[in-house]
Amino acid sequence: MTEPNRIALVTGGSRGLGLVVARALATRGYSLVIGGRDREALAAAAGELSRHGPVVVPVAGDITDPTVRAALIDAARQLGGLNVLVNNASELGGVGPLLTFDVPRFGRLFPVNVGGPMVLTQLAVPLLIERRGLIVNITSDAATAAYPGWGPYGATKAALELLTRTLASELSEHGVSAVLVDPGDMRTRMHQEAFPNQDISDRPLPEVTLPFWNWLFDQEPAAIRGQRFVAQQENAPWLQPV
Ligand SMILES: NC(=O)c1ccc[n+]([C@@H]2O[C@H](COP(=O)([O-])OP(=O)(O)OC[C@H]3O[C@@H](n4cnc5c(N)ncnc54)[C@H](OP(=O)(O)O)[C@@H]3O)[C@@H](O)[C@H]2O)c1
Repeated sequence: MTEPNRIALVTGGSRGLGLVVARALATRGYSLVIGGRDREALAAAAGELSRHGPVVVPVAGDITDPTVRAALIDAARQLGGLNVLVNNASELGGVGPLLTFDVPRFGRLFPVNVGGPMVLTQLAVPLLIERRGLIVNITSDAATAAYPGWGPYGATKAALELLTRTLASELSEHGVSAVLVDPGDMRTRMHQEAFPNQDISDRPLPEVTLPFWNWLFDQEPAAIRGQRFVAQQENAPWLQPV
């Protein structure tokens, strides 16, 4: 990507993995649009990120809200376009057996974890086409591993995986690429929600994924189209000394 003014949009950029990805992009000179519901946390993240140099625009609100999604894309357009869309914002929706799962809660989980990325992608594609850009959808090993208790969340990530691979095929003729990233276990608020009252201090902070992000954003998007990456994979190319 050679545009002088590179721009990225990161949903859930206020904390956890999203903030780490946003920081990786900021230090590479990207201007940013970041999203999240907690206005104060988002403003604090924007303040920290803007110390790395680029313009950072916080857009507060729920990813299921059409006006919020439109505002995120409008903010990128105002900055000049979009090179990278990172669909990171996600909810866990509780962990527990399927036999007692309150099935109507799918009505919240799917719109956040699948609908959010899909609609944002639809809105972003005209901008991404102009820059032959990259869509990064954050998934989880729960999408494939059938962990007891993780079915509903895992189902949303499994759906996101199929849709991302389909998008990668459909968008190739437009020069836009899409990839999946499983970040691995990380010590974040979501992870603590999954293990309430448990000590999760043995899990690494989301900064553990930084070598991966620095590697990913060096890649030509068309060369990685449709791939699924495991950020904490042992012996991965991004962990080899150069
Ligand atoms: N942590 C792990 O071990 C792990 C493992 C595998 C995959 N993942 C994936 O990694 C991604 C990031 O997770 P994380 O662990 O960093 O979670 P986190 O610390 O809870 O952060 C989630 C981010 O998304 C935002 N968000 C959540 N729901 C939202 C909504 N409805 N609308 C707008 N923004 C929303 C949050 O801000 P607000 O709450 O202020 O809205 C926050 O910025 C997720 O896609 C998750 O599924 C995490």
